[in-house]
Amino acid sequence: MKRKRIVSVLLIFAALFSLAGCGSQASATQDTESADTAAKKSLVVYFAVAENSGVADAVTSASINPDSDPVHGYTRTVADWAAEYLGADMFSVQTVFDYPTEYQPTTDIALNEQRNNERPELETELENLDQYDTVVFVAPVWWSDIPMAMYTFFDSYDFSGKDLIVYITHYGSRFGRCVQTIRSLETNATISEGLAINQTQVAGARNDVIARLQELGY
Ligand SMILES: Cc1cc2nc3c(=O)[nH]c(=O)nc-3n(C[C@H](O)[C@H](O)[C@H](O)COP(=O)(O)O)c2cc1C
Repeated sequence: MKRKRIVSVLLIFAALFSLAGCGSQASATQDTESADTAAKKSLVVYFAVAENSGVADAVTSASINPDSDPVHGYTRTVADWAAEYLGADMFSVQTVFDYPTEYQPTTDIALNEQRNNERPELETELENLDQYDTVVFVAPVWWSDIPMAMYTFFDSYDFSGKDLIVYITHYGSRFGRCVQTIRSLETNATISEGLAINQTQVAGARNDVIARLQELGY
Protein backbone atom coordinates (compact mmCIF):
# COMPACT_ATOMS: atom_id res chain seq x y z
CA MET A 1 0.00 0.00 0.00
CA LYS A 2 2.67 2.42 1.14
CA ARG A 3 4.82 1.64 -1.94
CA LYS A 4 1.82 2.15 -4.19
CA ARG A 5 1.23 5.59 -2.69
CA ILE A 6 4.90 6.54 -3.19
CA VAL A 7 4.69 5.40 -6.81
CA SER A 8 1.56 7.46 -7.43
CA VAL A 9 3.15 10.54 -5.80
CA LEU A 10 6.19 10.07 -8.06
CA LEU A 11 3.90 9.74 -11.08
CA ILE A 12 2.13 12.96 -10.17
CA PHE A 13 5.50 14.74 -9.89
CA ALA A 14 6.60 13.32 -13.22
CA ALA A 15 3.37 14.53 -14.83
CA LEU A 16 3.79 18.00 -13.30
CA PHE A 17 7.39 18.21 -14.53
CA SER A 18 6.47 17.19 -18.04
CA LEU A 19 3.65 19.77 -18.07
CA ALA A 20 6.07 22.44 -16.89
CA GLY A 21 8.43 21.37 -19.66
CA CYS A 22 5.70 21.72 -22.27
CA GLY A 23 4.85 25.11 -20.91
CA SER A 24 8.35 26.44 -21.21
CA GLN A 25 8.64 24.99 -24.72
CA ALA A 26 5.42 26.75 -25.74
CA SER A 27 6.55 30.04 -24.29
CA ALA A 28 9.93 29.68 -26.00
CA THR A 29 8.09 29.26 -29.32
CA GLN A 30 5.89 32.24 -28.54
CA ASP A 31 8.93 34.33 -27.68
CA THR A 32 10.54 33.48 -31.02
CA GLU A 33 7.30 34.28 -32.83
CA SER A 34 6.89 37.63 -31.13
CA ALA A 35 10.54 38.43 -31.83
CA ASP A 36 9.88 37.66 -35.52
CA THR A 37 6.78 39.84 -35.53
CA ALA A 38 8.66 42.63 -33.79
CA ALA A 39 11.32 42.48 -36.48
CA LYS A 40 8.75 43.05 -39.22
CA LYS A 41 7.98 46.69 -39.80
CA SER A 42 5.68 48.32 -42.29
CA LEU A 43 6.17 51.48 -44.25
CA VAL A 44 3.71 53.70 -46.07
CA VAL A 45 5.23 55.58 -49.00
CA TYR A 46 3.08 58.28 -50.55
CA PHE A 47 3.21 61.06 -53.08
CA ALA A 48 1.08 64.07 -52.20
CA VAL A 49 1.44 66.91 -54.65
CA ALA A 50 0.68 69.48 -51.97
CA GLU A 51 3.85 68.36 -50.18
CA ASN A 52 5.66 69.10 -53.43
CA SER A 53 4.43 72.60 -53.96
CA GLY A 54 6.97 74.45 -51.87
CA VAL A 55 4.23 75.85 -49.65
CA ALA A 56 5.65 76.26 -46.17
CA ASP A 57 2.80 74.58 -44.30
CA ALA A 58 2.33 71.83 -46.86
CA VAL A 59 2.61 69.24 -44.08
CA THR A 60 -1.16 69.48 -43.87
CA SER A 61 -1.13 68.30 -47.49
CA ALA A 62 -4.05 70.32 -48.73
CA SER A 63 -5.02 69.04 -52.15
CA ILE A 64 -4.65 71.21 -55.21
CA ASN A 65 -7.83 69.65 -56.45
CA PRO A 66 -10.57 72.29 -56.34
CA ASP A 67 -13.19 70.04 -54.75
CA SER A 68 -10.87 68.23 -52.37
CA ASP A 69 -11.17 67.92 -48.65
CA PRO A 70 -9.71 71.30 -47.63
CA VAL A 71 -7.45 69.94 -44.90
CA HIS A 72 -5.91 66.82 -46.35
CA GLY A 73 -5.27 65.87 -49.94
CA TYR A 74 -6.96 62.67 -51.00
CA THR A 75 -3.75 60.70 -51.26
CA ARG A 76 -2.34 61.79 -47.92
CA THR A 77 -5.67 60.98 -46.27
CA VAL A 78 -5.54 57.38 -47.50
CA ALA A 79 -1.85 57.09 -46.57
CA ASP A 80 -2.59 58.26 -43.02
CA TRP A 81 -5.32 55.65 -42.55
CA ALA A 82 -3.14 52.81 -43.81
CA ALA A 83 -0.23 53.91 -41.62
CA GLU A 84 -2.43 54.32 -38.57
CA TYR A 85 -3.89 50.82 -38.99
CA LEU A 86 -0.53 49.13 -39.62
CA GLY A 87 1.38 51.20 -37.07
CA ALA A 88 3.67 51.95 -40.00
CA ASP A 89 6.33 54.56 -40.57
CA MET A 90 5.54 57.08 -43.30
CA PHE A 91 7.67 58.41 -46.12
CA SER A 92 6.69 61.32 -48.33
CA VAL A 93 8.19 61.26 -51.82
CA GLN A 94 9.17 64.87 -52.47
CA THR A 95 10.72 66.44 -55.52
CA VAL A 96 13.33 69.17 -55.74
CA PHE A 97 11.00 70.85 -58.25
CA ASP A 98 8.02 72.68 -56.77
CA TYR A 99 4.75 71.94 -58.58
CA PRO A 100 2.25 74.77 -58.94
CA THR A 101 -0.47 75.03 -56.36
CA GLU A 102 -3.12 75.13 -59.10
CA TYR A 103 -4.61 72.09 -60.74
CA GLN A 104 -4.46 72.92 -64.45
CA PRO A 105 -0.80 73.97 -64.68
CA THR A 106 0.14 70.89 -62.68
CA THR A 107 -1.61 68.63 -65.17
CA ASP A 108 0.30 70.30 -68.04
CA ILE A 109 3.66 69.84 -66.32
CA ALA A 110 2.84 66.24 -65.40
CA LEU A 111 1.86 65.42 -68.98
CA ASN A 112 5.15 66.79 -70.26
CA GLU A 113 7.10 64.82 -67.68
CA GLN A 114 5.33 61.67 -68.78
CA ARG A 115 5.78 62.31 -72.52
CA ASN A 116 9.49 62.93 -71.99
CA ASN A 117 9.82 59.93 -69.65
CA GLU A 118 11.41 62.25 -67.09
CA ARG A 119 12.71 61.28 -63.69
CA PRO A 120 12.14 64.32 -61.46
CA GLU A 121 14.92 64.62 -58.91
CA LEU A 122 13.90 63.75 -55.35
CA GLU A 123 14.83 65.68 -52.25
CA THR A 124 13.66 63.18 -49.65
CA GLU A 125 15.71 60.09 -49.02
CA LEU A 126 14.48 56.81 -47.58
CA GLU A 127 16.76 55.26 -44.98
CA ASN A 128 16.98 51.71 -43.67
CA LEU A 129 14.71 50.10 -46.24
CA ASP A 130 15.95 46.72 -44.92
CA GLN A 131 13.85 47.02 -41.78
CA TYR A 132 10.58 46.93 -43.75
CA ASP A 133 8.90 43.77 -45.03
CA THR A 134 5.66 45.39 -46.12
CA VAL A 135 5.41 48.63 -48.01
CA VAL A 136 2.13 50.32 -48.89
CA PHE A 137 2.30 52.80 -51.78
CA VAL A 138 -0.30 55.50 -52.04
CA ALA A 139 -0.32 57.80 -55.04
CA PRO A 140 -2.73 59.76 -57.19
CA VAL A 141 -3.16 58.52 -60.74
CA TRP A 142 -1.57 61.09 -63.07
CA TRP A 143 -2.37 60.70 -66.73
CA SER A 144 -3.38 57.07 -66.13
CA ASP A 145 -0.09 56.24 -64.43
CA ILE A 146 1.90 56.93 -61.28
CA PRO A 147 3.49 60.41 -61.10
CA MET A 148 6.95 60.39 -62.72
CA ALA A 149 8.46 61.20 -59.32
CA MET A 150 7.36 57.72 -58.26
CA TYR A 151 9.34 56.30 -61.19
CA THR A 152 12.40 58.08 -59.79
CA PHE A 153 11.58 56.61 -56.39
CA PHE A 154 11.32 53.04 -57.71
CA ASP A 155 14.52 53.51 -59.73
CA SER A 156 16.28 54.57 -56.53
CA TYR A 157 15.37 51.65 -54.26
CA ASP A 158 15.21 47.89 -54.57
CA PHE A 159 12.09 46.27 -53.12
CA SER A 160 13.09 42.67 -53.94
CA GLY A 161 11.51 40.16 -51.56
CA LYS A 162 9.13 42.68 -50.03
CA ASP A 163 5.34 42.75 -50.06
CA LEU A 164 4.06 45.85 -51.79
CA ILE A 165 0.45 46.99 -51.67
CA VAL A 166 -0.76 49.70 -54.01
CA TYR A 167 -3.48 52.22 -53.18
CA ILE A 168 -4.44 54.78 -55.79
CA THR A 169 -6.68 57.84 -55.66
CA HIS A 170 -8.20 58.91 -58.97
CA TYR A 171 -11.04 60.71 -60.72
CA GLY A 172 -12.24 57.95 -63.02
CA SER A 173 -9.20 55.98 -64.21
CA ARG A 174 -9.21 53.62 -61.24
CA PHE A 175 -5.76 51.94 -61.09
CA GLY A 176 -4.97 53.00 -64.65
CA ARG A 177 -1.56 51.53 -65.49
CA CYS A 178 -0.22 52.11 -61.97
CA VAL A 179 0.01 48.50 -60.79
CA GLN A 180 1.44 47.33 -64.12
CA THR A 181 4.06 50.06 -63.93
CA ILE A 182 5.10 49.17 -60.40
CA ARG A 183 5.28 45.48 -61.38
CA SER A 184 7.59 46.36 -64.26
CA LEU A 185 9.81 48.50 -62.02
CA GLU A 186 9.98 46.08 -59.08
CA THR A 187 10.07 42.64 -60.68
CA ASN A 188 11.24 40.80 -57.57
CA ALA A 189 8.63 42.11 -55.15
CA THR A 190 5.21 40.62 -54.42
CA ILE A 191 2.75 43.29 -55.52
CA SER A 192 -0.92 43.34 -54.51
CA GLU A 193 -3.70 45.68 -55.45
CA GLY A 194 -4.93 47.59 -52.43
CA LEU A 195 -7.77 49.80 -53.58
CA ALA A 196 -8.36 52.38 -56.27
CA ILE A 197 -10.49 55.06 -54.61
CA ASN A 198 -12.32 57.73 -56.54
CA GLN A 199 -11.61 61.14 -55.03
CA THR A 200 -15.35 61.61 -54.52
CA GLN A 201 -15.37 58.59 -52.21
CA VAL A 202 -12.18 59.12 -50.26
CA ALA A 203 -13.90 60.89 -47.36
CA GLY A 204 -15.92 57.79 -46.46
CA ALA A 205 -13.34 55.17 -47.38
CA ARG A 206 -11.47 54.68 -44.10
CA ASN A 207 -13.12 51.34 -43.31
CA ASP A 208 -12.58 50.09 -46.87
CA VAL A 209 -8.90 50.99 -46.72
CA ILE A 210 -8.52 49.00 -43.50
CA ALA A 211 -10.77 46.11 -44.62
CA ARG A 212 -8.62 45.61 -47.72
CA LEU A 213 -5.48 45.40 -45.59
CA GLN A 214 -7.24 42.85 -43.40
CA GLU A 215 -8.24 40.83 -46.47
CA LEU A 216 -4.60 40.76 -47.47
CA GLY A 217 -3.73 39.33 -44.07
CA TYR A 218 -2.68 42.40 -42.08
C1 LIG B 1 -1.42 66.05 -62.89
C2 LIG B 1 -2.71 65.32 -62.66
C3 LIG B 1 -3.10 64.31 -63.53
C4 LIG B 1 -4.26 63.58 -63.26
N1 LIG B 1 -4.58 62.55 -64.12
C5 LIG B 1 -5.67 61.78 -63.82
C6 LIG B 1 -6.02 60.66 -64.65
O1 LIG B 1 -5.37 60.36 -65.65
N2 LIG B 1 -7.11 59.93 -64.30
C7 LIG B 1 -7.86 60.22 -63.19
O2 LIG B 1 -8.81 59.49 -62.92
N3 LIG B 1 -7.54 61.26 -62.38
C8 LIG B 1 -6.48 62.04 -62.68
N4 LIG B 1 -6.15 63.09 -61.87
C9 LIG B 1 -6.96 63.33 -60.66
C10 LIG B 1 -6.25 62.78 -59.42
O3 LIG B 1 -5.80 61.47 -59.61
C11 LIG B 1 -7.19 62.78 -58.23
O4 LIG B 1 -7.79 64.03 -58.10
C12 LIG B 1 -6.43 62.42 -56.95
O5 LIG B 1 -7.34 61.92 -56.02
C13 LIG B 1 -5.71 63.64 -56.37
O6 LIG B 1 -5.15 63.34 -55.13
P1 LIG B 1 -4.51 64.50 -54.19
O7 LIG B 1 -5.65 65.21 -53.52
O8 LIG B 1 -3.66 63.77 -53.22
O9 LIG B 1 -3.72 65.38 -55.11
C14 LIG B 1 -5.04 63.88 -62.13
C15 LIG B 1 -4.66 64.93 -61.30
C16 LIG B 1 -3.51 65.65 -61.55
C17 LIG B 1 -3.09 66.76 -60.62
